[in-house]
Amino acid sequence: KEGIGEPWILSRIRTIPDFPKPGIKFRDITTLLNDARGFRKAVDELVQPYVGVAIDKVAGIEARGFIVGGAVAHQLTSGFVPMRKKGKLPHATIGQSYDLEYGTDTLEIHEDAIAHGDLVLLVDDLLATGGTADAAVELIEKAGGKVVAACFVIDLPDLGGAQRLRDRGVDVISLCQYH
Ligand code: PRP
Ligand code: ADE
Repeated sequence: KEGIGEPWILSRIRTIPDFPKPGIKFRDITTLLNDARGFRKAVDELVQPYVGVAIDKVAGIEARGFIVGGAVAHQLTSGFVPMRKKGKLPHATIGQSYDLEYGTDTLEIHEDAIAHGDLVLLVDDLLATGGTADAAVELIEKAGGKVVAACFVIDLPDLGGAQRLRDRGVDVISLCQYH
């Protein structure tokens, strides 16, 4: 079976073949978000290991990481840090570039968004090669934050992102995996 996880979540994730290009199986979480019980349970399960843990900031990665990360931050009573694509934030920023399949992209946060010593929970919808999450960890650490863990709704372990993050000492949590 290509999907590993509990039926409540696998049954609510939609797979679109050949999107955005031939050969890619796009794992679509809009069907999970659209379902009130599914959305709530996904957020509850991401939050559960950190109830009672002092998380100063939840950092969510644009764009789908904002949806899940915002809900997680609310539930933990933590601040939320939007990690945005280059050029979107209005105040002074710090950035970190990362490689894409073709070319590069840059994530940015406001220079004052994370204080030295802040405990930060990184959240995104999906972990693939880990290029995006790795740049996010780099940026949080550049700002002086400590990454407590990186949490994802979906991991694609064959693409190596989880191993890449664990190799640099970051705990990785995901609710389901697709091979
Ligand atoms: C997707 C996903 C992750 C990233 C994972 O975002 O939401 O952020 O790709 O891929 P990686 O592990 O190989 O870096 P995308 O770049 O498609 O941006 P979007 O959320 O704005 O659509
Ligand atoms: N981001 C990178 N790979 C993806 C996939 N297979 N489905 C959804 N989002 C992705």
